[in-house]
Amino acid sequence: MKHVAIIMDGNGRWAEAKRVPRLEGHRRGAEATRKATRSCIEHKIPYLTIYAFSAENWQRPEEEVRDLMGLLRHYLKNEIKELHENNIRLRVIGDRSKFDKDLNLQIEQAEAKTIANTGLNLQIALSYGGRQELEMAARKMAENGGKLEDYLYTAGMPDPDLLIRTGGELRISNFLLWQMAYTELYFTETLWPDFDAAVFDKAIEEFTRRVRRFGRR
Ligand code: IPE
Ligand code: IPE
Ligand code: MG
Repeated sequence: MKHVAIIMDGNGRWAEAKRVPRLEGHRRGAEATRKATRSCIEHKIPYLTIYAFSAENWQRPEEEVRDLMGLLRHYLKNEIKELHENNIRLRVIGDRSKFDKDLNLQIEQAEAKTIANTGLNLQIALSYGGRQELEMAARKMAENGGKLEDYLYTAGMPDPDLLIRTGGELRISNFLLWQMAYTELYFTETLWPDFDAAVFDKAIEEFTRRVRRFGRR
């Protein structure tokens, strides 16, 4: 197993159930990402891609978008040292043109700091949409030639072997459309802030029991 992708969903419902502000759900969700990186390192899985903010999430109420951008700034500022110490290489995938200049600078600095790290490859999908990515790649390929996958944000990375979606919804929500052609899908009712190593281990365990045929027999 080389690559796990995660749709981190259910922060809002977690907050609702606890009768706390939505922002608190997102805050706890951000903390849960640490458990996901730790689990990947433990299982020696070299690539982890997490869906933190979709291209469509810009349509949420202004206040929630502002809160999420604030959390992102906070995460980049406070988490980068620990990521670096753990030899994690961070990459952000998605449409950066939508972010404020200072946030883009922060992203670039975080990527630059960890670029030579040789441990876990952590991709955070931000302002990411699979269709938008494919349109961008198709445009670049028409201009410059070559293969479509060379122009994807994930160029050079293995496709995800396993997708985990928390929060109980049974859909892909525009995540890694090209890359997940043969990905095994695992859905759990657990809300993202409650995600932990046990949830991860259960997904891995189920994955090992799946038979991947890739069209062959
Ligand atoms: C996932 O949690 C985080 C983002 C999409 C930013 P949600 O905010 O979608 O939580 P639910 O689905 O409303 O519970
Ligand atoms: C998917 O969650 C996107 C992220 C987790 C970042 P959403 O909550 O946006 O998905 P839908 O709207 O339920 O499909
Ligand atoms: Mg949701």
